[in-house]
Amino acid sequence: MTDDDDDIPMPPEPYSCIFCSETIENEQAAVALTATWMPHWRAGRFSPLAQDFWAHSVCLQKNWKGAWPWEEQVLFGADKGDELDYVETLALSVARPEDRETIEETLGFAFEEGLSHAYGSDLIDQIIPFLTHIEPTLLTSGTYYVLADMDGQIAACGGYSFSAPGTAKPTAGTAHIRHFATHPDYAGYGLGRRLFDHCLKEAKAAGAQEFVCYSGLNAEGFYQTLGFERESSIEIHIGTANSGVAVVMPAVMMRYRLSDHAEFKPVSEDGAQ
Ligand SMILES: CC(C)(COP(=O)(O)OP(=O)(O)OC[C@H]1O[C@@H](n2cnc3c(N)ncnc32)[C@H](O)[C@@H]1OP(=O)(O)O)[C@@H](O)C(=O)NCCC(=O)NCCS
Repeated sequence: MTDDDDDIPMPPEPYSCIFCSETIENEQAAVALTATWMPHWRAGRFSPLAQDFWAHSVCLQKNWKGAWPWEEQVLFGADKGDELDYVETLALSVARPEDRETIEETLGFAFEEGLSHAYGSDLIDQIIPFLTHIEPTLLTSGTYYVLADMDGQIAACGGYSFSAPGTAKPTAGTAHIRHFATHPDYAGYGLGRRLFDHCLKEAKAAGAQEFVCYSGLNAEGFYQTLGFERESSIEIHIGTANSGVAVVMPAVMMRYRLSDHAEFKPVSEDGAQ
């Protein structure tokens, strides 16, 4: 490798071979291996990551067994541990109107990633602005929640209302799931379930007999895991006359009857049943 080689930036020395761990002293014998996608700890979820690793050309040939070495050894364990430590610090609280910007930012990241598993990019581009917009009344309702760190950074959010989305008409006994989202970096760590358990506890105390949810196709499995049942396929008509957008989002109507889950005991915030 030479100084003229601008395509592959060399990391600050000293750097080591990913295979033999020896310091690479001869730059001409080094090869940059770039990991652009990190396998998430749950299959099927991916977090983008651009990072260079270095290997002796000889080691690369000798140790190459068809699997990139960092997949298990370098990133997999280390990042999982860091994220687990972090999610354990998150506290659940009622969302406030001043949280709007950070909530909508989290919704943006989550929906961009989540919807991509079930919808085409043209549709996603059109519906994202609507899905990430929070009705002001939800932020004063006391039933929309955030999981945030000590700096106020929101990792997940979600809640319920006793009126259907887009309406102000109360629906006695029926709680509507509203804007559940987990930042992709922390998906799969139980944050969505933690939020739902809290909603369940609160809504039950407020007289709910059931939850309904207009779920995106990408999130049907999540709600099913929580105990929801698929009721029907639906079409959500998104857009307004003023916005110039009028699109149809295929979705699923899901229902959770509290009477079907009589054994439910919410996990309290200190972890005790
Ligand atoms: C759907 C979403 C909120 C899930 O949040 P999360 O914090 O990753 O979920 P959790 O880690 O709490 O998962 C709870 C359970 O559901 C399962 N689960 C999560 N997403 C799933 C999916 N897409 N398919 C099947 N199961 C899923 C988990 O494996 C876990 O099961 P377990 O408790 O038995 O281990 C998140 O993926 C997201 O933000 N998606 C994009 C936004 C979106 O579509 N929101 C829903 C609006 S309708």
